[in-house]
Amino acid sequence: GYEWADVAALGPDVAGRAVRVRGAAHAVRAVGRRVAFLVLRQGSSTVQCVVGGGGGGGGGDAGVARFAAGLSRESVVDVAGVVSLPREPVRGTTQQEVEIQVKKLYCISKATPNLPISVDDAARSEEDVVKAKAAGEQLVHVGQDKRLDFRVIDLRTPANQAIFRVQCEIENIFRQVLLSEGFVGIHTPKLIGGSSEGGAAVFKLDYNGQPACLAQSPQLHKQMAICGGFERVFEVGPVFRAEDSNTHRHLCEFVGLDMEMAIKDHYSEVCDVVDRLFVAMFDHLNKNCAKELEVINRQYPFEPLKYLPKTLRIEYDEGIRMLKEAGVHVEAMGDLNTESEKKLGELVHTKPFYTMPCSDDPRYSNSFDVFVRGEEIISGAQRVHVPEVLARQAEERGIDVGSIAAYVDAFRYGAPPHGGFGVGLERVVMLFCGLGNIRKASLFPRDPRRLNP
Ligand code: 4AD
Repeated sequence: GYEWADVAALGPDVAGRAVRVRGAAHAVRAVGRRVAFLVLRQGSSTVQCVVGGGGGGGGGDAGVARFAAGLSRESVVDVAGVVSLPREPVRGTTQQEVEIQVKKLYCISKATPNLPISVDDAARSEEDVVKAKAAGEQLVHVGQDKRLDFRVIDLRTPANQAIFRVQCEIENIFRQVLLSEGFVGIHTPKLIGGSSEGGAAVFKLDYNGQPACLAQSPQLHKQMAICGGFERVFEVGPVFRAEDSNTHRHLCEFVGLDMEMAIKDHYSEVCDVVDRLFVAMFDHLNKNCAKELEVINRQYPFEPLKYLPKTLRIEYDEGIRMLKEAGVHVEAMGDLNTESEKKLGELVHTKPFYTMPCSDDPRYSNSFDVFVRGEEIISGAQRVHVPEVLARQAEERGIDVGSIAAYVDAFRYGAPPHGGFGVGLERVVMLFCGLGNIRKASLFPRDPRRLNP
């Protein structure tokens, strides 16, 4: 009996055991007529399989070796054989230390011999290609667009296997920390009548004859959940933005990590949750995903993220003063991101209509942004819970109040002061791992041009 085994579990401790392994034919190499080496890959682990090396002689060995040598790369293969210690220590960073002496070999699914991209080419770092070129060697580097076109092959690279494990951990920690703080997970509708963030970046559609759109955020309904008596809620779900900006950090569909909570005294209570959540998240990743981070770093070199146990909080005016001192030209009340000169009082209008103005000075708002590696990943705020103010602020921004009437009305039946934040899952992955492009953090990215695969 050959027992099913995972490649990652094959080590010297199981030498001598009869195992059965299913994986992808990562590489095949014939040695003479009687022996073939087959490198089998499962996830980001590989193991070398020796086919026909049993010394049995005769046509049998040559037949199976020929069959192995003829396997197309990426075909799904079952091998049954005995785990053995190799004569020479195995090189290669992801390869197991042991080999399998193959007794039986089956091809389960044959891959086309004309693969559009190879996993090895896709797994190469730009640095490797540059180095090889300097040494007069020609290595293929597959561009990002082509890799995304053939994403199912591209996803097989060790870095991609690691990136999406890290993504899963981030989502998981988001849930765990908020659950431990008394939050309830919810799901809000993605088909809605009025746009949730305002502005032009909204996908419009026809809902059985009614105008509708895809939710730009769970904003309105997560607040309505607070009105519905849930004091603390969170959601992990798709967010749709009809972005026309082709940048390294904008997607048309991304995964939103959102929360909303009733607040007692001050909206900084929301910031306190941000601190606890993200410090726990980053600590967890460094501790539990060290292997994944190392694998990602090999293909996409990055400096580990530095973070403080408590986020540095800078008041808006203080930020402006620091920028000025650093010689950056900014106007008071100007837009920090574009550094464009904006007239006094304009800032509050750049915040969405549901944002609570500052009670001391309505030119400011009770809102905050969080930056990682100099880029925004989180935006949050206290919300307006007074229906009249909400309706007025929506109107001022040209939003059809009729289309969000049920939302505004929700605050007429008694609503506690509340606030929350939203963060893009792909942005967290991209910035924590220093990937440089959000598409690398999305399994099948949707950007202004890409709807496939
Ligand atoms: O800053 P945004 O638009 O804020 C909201 O949606 C609010 N309703 C959230 C809140 O509770 N105040 O989006 C929130 C986060 C951003 O900080 C960013 O991380 C991410 O979502 N994000 C995007 N990620 C990828 N592609 C895009 N086009 C994104 N737009 C925003």
